Amino acid sequence: MREVAIVSAGMTPFGELWETSLRNLFVQAAREALEKAHVTRVDGIYVGNMSGGQFVGQEHLGPLMADHLGMAGVPAVRIESACASGGAALRTAFFDVASGASDLVLAAGVEKMNDGADVTNVLATAADQETEVYHGVTFPGLYAMIARAHMQAHGTTEEDLSAVSVKNHHHGALSPRAQFRMEVTLEQVMNSSMVAEPLRLLHCSPVTDGAAAVLLCPLDRAAEFTDRPVKILGSGLASGSFALADRPDPSFLDAVSLSASRAFQMAGVGVADIDVAEVHDCFSIAELCVLEALGFAKPGGAAELTRAGETALGGKLPVNTSGGLKSKGHPVGATGIAQAVEILEQLRDEAGARQVKNATVGLAQNMGGSGASSVVHIFERV
Ligand code: COA
Repeated sequence: MREVAIVSAGMTPFGELWETSLRNLFVQAAREALEKAHVTRVDGIYVGNMSGGQFVGQEHLGPLMADHLGMAGVPAVRIESACASGGAALRTAFFDVASGASDLVLAAGVEKMNDGADVTNVLATAADQETEVYHGVTFPGLYAMIARAHMQAHGTTEEDLSAVSVKNHHHGALSPRAQFRMEVTLEQVMNSSMVAEPLRLLHCSPVTDGAAAVLLCPLDRAAEFTDRPVKILGSGLASGSFALADRPDPSFLDAVSLSASRAFQMAGVGVADIDVAEVHDCFSIAELCVLEALGFAKPGGAAELTRAGETALGGKLPVNTSGGLKSKGHPVGATGIAQAVEILEQLRDEAGARQVKNATVGLAQNMGGSGASSVVHIFERV
């Protein structure tokens, strides 16, 4: 396999973007990535998208986006793994380049959730229809059950969940493209309205429109496009038990653990080597469960890391310096690519007020549904 680099990135602001259509969000992010690398045509395009058909009535996104980029003729396909669609698109692009099949490949993610669709029900199509959704469970409901299981197993408290939100809003306030650029206090989080007990409004990621894109090429060609390439060291993908009821411990995310061990093995590095991480905090409890499944803390130990400030900017392992899904926003199919954009900026010293000093190796973890799919990528400054 060839070594692969990311040479440029583009990203729209995240938020309620009423004036911009799905295709124009995609084109905006993709054009930014292409223009930064002075590229007008690529060898392949992978579009991460969860549910264009249900959110805005638009499927067949590969050729649609290639055409609107002025690249009709280029191989282009949509990649779907629910909220992990972006990470899955990045992984597909990585192997396309690594295998030698293609040289210049665009991996992009896009979602438009605010155009009037019944968002809660559309998102619920990523859960188990027969054993979960049919009985009325929504995603906030599923993660509420995960939170309850974690509380029961490890004594996790509502304050612990809230501390994650406070930290991610603190980072998001420094993040120019974030949807909610405001600090929140522990008290505000604990008093926000109840969504699905014990999860409150400020424990939930919002409903978001947005797109993000990265351009990949073989590492030995990267100098043609940038003087600051970032190498993809490893990629791991895993599936896990689909329904919560089938998991021995609903608060331990097996697919995350498996995808991480695969990525670490390919990368030849371990948890101690990671300087900065973006993880899938669709609900605050998810950040704690993911950190434990990745191996950054023992089961039940991530709350203590958070309380000690270790996962905040200035701590030992800053997590979700972009603001995470909580504050930056979660346009589901775009999230995995947006995480890669943040790690790229960190490893290139381009993160401004969010910069982690001397960041050399970064990790991005992107998850589908209640954890039935997970993708982990590890990146290194060149
Ligand atoms: N965090 C902070 N503020 C939020 C927010 C969030 N997650 N979601 C909405 N708001 C704000 C809005 O900006 C609005 O503020 P305003 O009154 O000052 O204008 C207010 O809260 C009410 O917004 P509204 O859109 O009416 O909220 P809602 O009750 O319809 O939706 C949630 C709130 C939490 C239910 C919704 O964001 C949600 O479903 N989130 C989870 C999405 C999800 O499941 N993603 C997939 C994960 S696997």
